[in-house]
Amino acid sequence: MTNTTRQVIFAKRPRGWVSDDCFEIRDVAIPELADGDVLVRNIYMSVDPYMRGRMNDAKSYAAGFELGKVMQCGAIGEVVKSRNDKIPEGTVVTGMLNWETYTLVKGGDGLMPVDPKAAPLPYYISVLGMPGFTAWYGLLKIGEPKAGETVYVSAASGAVGQVVGQIAKIRGATVIGSAGSDDKCAYVTEKCGYDACFNYKTVDSYAKALHEHCPKGIDVYFENVGGKMLDAVLTVLNQHSRIALCGLISQYNLTEPEGIKYVQSLLINKVRLQGFIISDHYDLFPEFVNDVAGWLKSGQMTYRLSVAEGIDNAPGAFIGMLKGENFGKQVVKLGDDPYAA
Ligand SMILES: NC(=O)c1ccc[n+]([C@@H]2O[C@H](COP(=O)([O-])OP(=O)(O)OC[C@H]3O[C@@H](n4cnc5c(N)ncnc54)[C@H](OP(=O)(O)O)[C@@H]3O)[C@@H](O)[C@H]2O)c1
Repeated sequence: MTNTTRQVIFAKRPRGWVSDDCFEIRDVAIPELADGDVLVRNIYMSVDPYMRGRMNDAKSYAAGFELGKVMQCGAIGEVVKSRNDKIPEGTVVTGMLNWETYTLVKGGDGLMPVDPKAAPLPYYISVLGMPGFTAWYGLLKIGEPKAGETVYVSAASGAVGQVVGQIAKIRGATVIGSAGSDDKCAYVTEKCGYDACFNYKTVDSYAKALHEHCPKGIDVYFENVGGKMLDAVLTVLNQHSRIALCGLISQYNLTEPEGIKYVQSLLINKVRLQGFIISDHYDLFPEFVNDVAGWLKSGQMTYRLSVAEGIDNAPGAFIGMLKGENFGKQVVKLGDDPYAA
């Protein structure tokens, strides 16, 4: 086994769009393990939109990345060395690990063992992990869709969006999506059961497209993008509609946020708009896993991944995801997956 780990270092704060020079790649020696420590060989890591916020020097719900230090991420890997009786060698674990090939975890803190034969490994950091949980929580606990209502989902083919639409269909809603390419729209309508999806990059007007696709108005908006899309949605909302404010990806790389004009819609339609951060809700994680693992097993749910290869390609996968180059949940494969079918 190698005695070095290959890491992605946070080298420069972006202003506006993230560029390659925000990252540096280096090989460093793996430290010796102390009592309680484990060494994880990372197999897949996740790149997520929230990481863009952690690159800013601004107060947020999570601590920022530190310049000159290795970046953190959700990841799944196998324990290859252990001085911890509770997490023996060979255990497959998920947790907050690093953008690197091997991570030494002090005391094994925060690692969660998973059954590597119950699902493909990348699922534990996607549909059965944080993004799937975000979809499940935001839709069911905030959106609260009822059968026959209209649910609209932006970034519909992404890590979160593809799950939101499928759960809304299971709950009997009419589901409309938007996505950034015709192929992404075809995926959500043909594979995820969305009733319709429009390519927001080719329509004349978001509001016009929404009025056409949601003739009875929108009862639940699962908000992933913000900005002009949110403004357009405000003109199509029904009385007592709900907005689950999950993310605002159209704004993350702007130096000045866009304004919202149609705020009065929230008042006159008595709309409930609620932001949420999924890390506050892990008490509900077992309920989520029970639902989503069941739907995957029964074939009621499908999931699409976008897999980049190798730690050196992690920065490019992250930047590409922010630009919409991912088709499905973006993960990076860091090493051999002995459980791959
Ligand atoms: N609140 C929470 O706890 C929480 C947790 C996880 C994720 N989130 C949020 O959920 C949202 C989706 O995250 P994800 O992990 O599922 O990412 P994702 O959808 O897999 O990837 C991001 C997608 O955003 C779309 N996008 C990028 N720029 C856009 C723009 N200007 N306008 C419209 N769409 C744009 C792109 O798809 P297109 O090709 O369709 O444009 C891109 O593929 C993000 O806003 C994220 O911050 C929140």
